[in-house]
Amino acid sequence: MVQLTLPKNSRMTTGKTWPKPEGATNLRKVQIYRWSPDDDKNPSLDTYFVDMDACGPMVLDALIKIKSDIDPTLTFRRSCREGICGSCAMNIDGINTLACIYGMDEIKGDIKIYPLPHMPVIKDLIPDLTHFYAQHASVKPWLETKSNKPAKEWKQSIEDRAKLDGLYECVMCACCTTACPSYWWNGDRFLGPAALLTANRWITDSRDEATGERLDDLEDPFKLYRCHTIMNCAKTCPKGLNPAAAIANVKKMMIERTV
Ligand code: SF4
Ligand code: SF4
Ligand code: FES
Repeated sequence: MVQLTLPKNSRMTTGKTWPKPEGATNLRKVQIYRWSPDDDKNPSLDTYFVDMDACGPMVLDALIKIKSDIDPTLTFRRSCREGICGSCAMNIDGINTLACIYGMDEIKGDIKIYPLPHMPVIKDLIPDLTHFYAQHASVKPWLETKSNKPAKEWKQSIEDRAKLDGLYECVMCACCTTACPSYWWNGDRFLGPAALLTANRWITDSRDEATGERLDDLEDPFKLYRCHTIMNCAKTCPKGLNPAAAIANVKKMMIERTV
């Protein structure tokens, strides 16, 4: 676990307002959460102005523009720039989403950017996802088999493969888990929507031979049953997935195996 030096209190302060780019006429105001463990200061909201005539259309384009042209200390994660790696997840205009596929034209007025909520912050827009990844690993996100290994591959019918649609596409961005009120209050023990969607992905896989053990592992008052179908997870997922439905499927399988 990363050792974090958190702010003495989390009360936001008014941050620095950076100068407008010279000569620019098409400006967008962008306010960004700033906090560094190296400064003995509370978090602040810094204000930047981005020249939209010299910037791409996505929120990530604005962040990259600010970092390269205005303030190199601004810190955020990103990699693929096409919604595949899941690393640029943050809270934009009140919504947990991926900065690289969220267009600035979808936001009316000033653009406000915060880290994913209810996670410890390492710096600026970077949350500590150590616990989130550990929970993901705990559901054993790989094929478990007991039969003899086939000569070539574990086969699956087209129909059984189709049952994984809507599950395998998860990019582990944590947008859903950090939008879930049950996770906010019980995140130490409730696995949260992302890990449970992945658990359901492997429970559903016709090739997997550990369904019973996987269900046994989730038979716990907290790991699975803290989901109260609030649906924030499905509403916010930038990949259009429905973790709430996946969780409901796991609960249904729990009941079916007892009758
Ligand atoms: S449906 Fe369940 S997992 Fe999704 S946000 Fe609500 S409580 Fe959390
Ligand atoms: S289910 Fe959606 S929001 Fe949740 S981690 Fe996967 S891609 Fe992200
Ligand atoms: S940079 Fe990879 S999902 Fe945004």
